[in-house]
Amino acid sequence: MESLIGLINKIQRACTVLGDHGGEGMSLWEALPSVAVVGGQSSGKSSVLESVVGRDFLPRGSGIVTRRPLVLQLHKTESGSEYAEFLHAPKKRFSDFAAVRKEIADETDRITGKTKQISNIPIHLSIYSPHVVNLTLIDLPGLTKVAVEGQPDSIVEDIENMVRSYVEKPNCIILAISPANQDIATSDAIKLAREVDPSGERTFGVLTKLDLMDKGTNAQDVLEGRAYRLQHPWVGIVNRSQADINKNVDMIVARRKEREYFETSPDYGHLASRMGSEYLAKLLSQHLELVIRQRIPSIIALINKNIDELNAELDRIGRPIAADGGAQLYMILELCRAFDRVFKEHLD
Ligand code: GDP
Ligand code: NA
Ligand code: MG
Repeated sequence: MESLIGLINKIQRACTVLGDHGGEGMSLWEALPSVAVVGGQSSGKSSVLESVVGRDFLPRGSGIVTRRPLVLQLHKTESGSEYAEFLHAPKKRFSDFAAVRKEIADETDRITGKTKQISNIPIHLSIYSPHVVNLTLIDLPGLTKVAVEGQPDSIVEDIENMVRSYVEKPNCIILAISPANQDIATSDAIKLAREVDPSGERTFGVLTKLDLMDKGTNAQDVLEGRAYRLQHPWVGIVNRSQADINKNVDMIVARRKEREYFETSPDYGHLASRMGSEYLAKLLSQHLELVIRQRIPSIIALINKNIDELNAELDRIGRPIAADGGAQLYMILELCRAFDRVFKEHLD
């Protein structure tokens, strides 16, 4: 049987292609869970996403690098080579991940120009690989405190509103990224997460830059849940430093170094099995699967509503014979029916 999350990924893609055919109220897209990465600028959001995926492909660095939301769907394949596809260039398969990084940067500039401006129009990217877990992740611009040269004064608020529009959805799982070398009480990620998810049921606290803490200090209070309690356990991360990036330290080496860091750490050795990027990826995938299972009945109801609406629409415009406008609707209807069947199988 096809994995549930794989199926969800397909539905999300279908919903994106068909746009807002959901009629009034909640669209199918909004009913499905995804994971959004939230945090201050340069807190390590894009680095964490790369680690979860296990590939180098995101533009990263100091300053405002991520300027459009990136909706990233990971599809686990049984075997074969890895490749990526953009929704804006569906016929083109990227097998060179450096080219993916460039395409993200170019596609960002296509909308915003080579500026420090942001846009809330998302970029959709799918990665197919035997080495990923099935997951939908959203990379977002970092929260900031002040506008810099070339940005409008409203940018601080604009970014916060854009990020909030993703994380306030009840189906959004929040990956709240805070750097360990800053006081957790000043964390932008935690501040926003607490606002939209006061009970902490859909927030995962991620602490980056553990390697950059002042000597003689450690983050045990945060990682053991005493400084700021969340329902899910905190996960500590050591991403590549800028020097590592400049030296082209690859992902495999970075993961091994991260594992060694925790295993040999006098401060975190006792937590080692619950730390690091690979553990975070597993934790997220498990949680997503659980949430989806709980949602199956309401997703079925929503799909059926879509089927009814599409049927009504088809009755109105007449059943399609050729590849006219109705043909696309008809295909979508068939797709919804197929999803409905598979979902019902999962319920049994
Ligand atoms: P974003 O702006 O939140 O997406 O952050 P990036 O992922 O682009 O990272 C910003 C900078 O911080 C980059 O130079 C990274 O190399 C660095 N960085 C991120 N995480 C860590 C970490 O855990 N340790 C160290 N030493 N550097 C990190
Ligand atoms: Na950055
Ligand atoms: Mg970024």
